Amino acid sequence: MTPARDLLAFVSSAARNPTVIGAVAPSGRALCDVLASVAPEDPAATVVELGPGTGVVSQALRRRMAPEARHVAVEIDPGMVSHLARTRPWLEVVRGDAKDLQKLLADIGITRVDTVVSGLPWTLFSREAQRGIMEQVSRVLAPGGVFTTFAYRHVMNLPTQRRFRELLEQSFDEVRLTPTVWRNVPPALCYQCRNVGAGGS
Ligand SMILES: C[S@@+](CC[C@H](N)C(=O)[O-])C[C@H]1O[C@@H](n2cnc3c(N)ncnc32)[C@H](O)[C@@H]1O
Repeated sequence: MTPARDLLAFVSSAARNPTVIGAVAPSGRALCDVLASVAPEDPAATVVELGPGTGVVSQALRRRMAPEARHVAVEIDPGMVSHLARTRPWLEVVRGDAKDLQKLLADIGITRVDTVVSGLPWTLFSREAQRGIMEQVSRVLAPGGVFTTFAYRHVMNLPTQRRFRELLEQSFDEVRLTPTVWRNVPPALCYQCRNVGAGGS
């Protein structure tokens, strides 16, 4: 996989649809590795990515996950979906909106997920959209499952990001922030969230 090919696909989708893509370039390797650090090693695990884009995080997850584990990616942008099908044939790609997560997964026989890794542009979403997607995540996440996502450091104090953090704190028993990944452009950090109690239904 050539990073140039990923970059070209990303920039062309972002130019067509900037408010859906929400970034100017794919995440860098260091950020992808922090996102993927929560991936389970269990061969029976199911991991779902939301907003995989060109698949750079998918690649990092693949490096950590057992080959037998199920790895599904839900992507809304048709250009990204085609790119993923061409360049990451090992990834199970579902074209759709994360707001319909439970149904999209049920359609492919999944009712419980061990880890959800999000690349969604949360700060672009309304309060209702953020809440709607997090409700879907809570419904599919297994008890003890992990949800992770990233935020750019320079937007951490924006009201939409603060609102998102509050939502995470309402949705999970434990919300951890990783150190800043300075090598990413722009620098970013990850939320790692876990429910120790019962999962949603
Ligand atoms: C900021 S990019 C991140 C891409 C990749 N994960 C990365 O880190 O480089 C956001 C991705 O989320 C996708 N996306 C945005 N809204 C979505 C939604 N409601 N459901 C599924 N995917 C969505 C976009 O098409 C885009 O591929």
